[in-house]
Amino acid sequence: MTNKEIKIAYQEYDSLAELDPKDRELAQASIDATAQAYAPYSKFNVGAAVLFEDGVIVKGANQENAAYPSGLCAERTALFYASASRPDKPMTAIAIAAGQNGQLLEMPATPCGACRQVMAQYQLKSGLPMKVLLVGAHKIWKFEKIDDLLPLIFDSI
Ligand code: THU
Repeated sequence: MTNKEIKIAYQEYDSLAELDPKDRELAQASIDATAQAYAPYSKFNVGAAVLFEDGVIVKGANQENAAYPSGLCAERTALFYASASRPDKPMTAIAIAAGQNGQLLEMPATPCGACRQVMAQYQLKSGLPMKVLLVGAHKIWKFEKIDDLLPLIFDSI
């Protein structure tokens, strides 16, 4: 038997101003996207912004439904829209922000497992590491690839 350990490295920033300009633009787009959430049940507004290799950014926000499971998280809304509208373009990053009562959460919101799996798929499809920016008002966390948020990813088929 061997004991093994998985370590995850990420960067923490204290404000948008600390980010480099392209990351700042993407983070801001995710904050802006929280205003596009349709979340009448949870009132938890999540925004996601996907960056393509060519610099284009597309946004998505969570969409809820009276039949709860029919709704969709912001990350998957953004990623599916991104892939469906620009199927041959590689994606290189996603930023995620969440707010309540019109206020950005102080600490970053972390994506659900299903969204991490979908991010992993688009990273695989793109053939490039997908950076992940988790954006809070007081802290921003930056991961260099989705593997850091989903160790031992399932991508074997
Ligand atoms: N939500 C997201 O948009 N992304 C996540 O990663 C987790 C949760 C949404 C789903 C639902 O509309 C609301 O947040 C409350 O769970």
